[in-house]
Amino acid sequence: MTEKRTQSRRTVFGHLEIEYDDDVLEPRPWTEHQSRWAAALLGGLPAGDVLELCAGVGHIGLLAVSGSSRHLVQVDAGARQCELAEINAARAGNRSVEVRHGDLEAAIEPDEKFVLVIADPPWVVSARTDDHPDDPLSAIDGGRDGLDLVRSCLDVIGRHLAPAGAAVLQVGPEQSEPVARYVTDWPHLGLRVVESRSYEDGALVHLARLTQDATG
Ligand SMILES: C[S@@+](CC[C@H](N)C(=O)[O-])C[C@H]1O[C@@H](n2cnc3c(N)ncnc32)[C@H](O)[C@@H]1O
Repeated sequence: MTEKRTQSRRTVFGHLEIEYDDDVLEPRPWTEHQSRWAAALLGGLPAGDVLELCAGVGHIGLLAVSGSSRHLVQVDAGARQCELAEINAARAGNRSVEVRHGDLEAAIEPDEKFVLVIADPPWVVSARTDDHPDDPLSAIDGGRDGLDLVRSCLDVIGRHLAPAGAAVLQVGPEQSEPVARYVTDWPHLGLRVVESRSYEDGALVHLARLTQDATG
């Protein structure tokens, strides 16, 4: 039996042309803020690689590294998302992108460190996912409080952020506070919130190491 595949479409994200289809989340224009913030931070970071968790079709990370020669590792649990991420990286002309298909908790080797981590986990509370009928459930369902995958991302960031690194995590409009509480409640992660920025459709949280030489 042949699998029925929806026709892919293209959209513009920053200066990039991005391919997506009905099986994945359509790139959201406001998330360009995440790319731009990450790119600005990247300019001041030491040498090292960039990690993007829950990358989807890869546009946020691709735009973030587009002005640099950094190696970008993109992780997503969806096979179609990874296929499209490969296509989008090739179209962007970026030869230093590695797309890893798998769960974010398992896709990184224990000794890998990254100077910048970008993360865009599903963050809609399960009871409200019906409000987004066009979005694939796997891209938006964040569990009972919407934070299941946000917590997983914070755990991975805690394990893999380089000592002087930075992370830019995307969450829902009301979720910056719970993120700050989580990193305070779990000091072994070695993370602190540097700044949060709110937008109409979501929020971005910049995280760094508690002390630059304590962990990592
Ligand atoms: C909110 S979407 C973000 C995708 C992309 N960054 C975007 O803006 O369109 C969340 C992504 O996380 C992926 N995902 C969900 N659970 C995951 C997991 N446990 N490990 C890795 N990726 C996961 C989904 O496949 C989806 O592509």
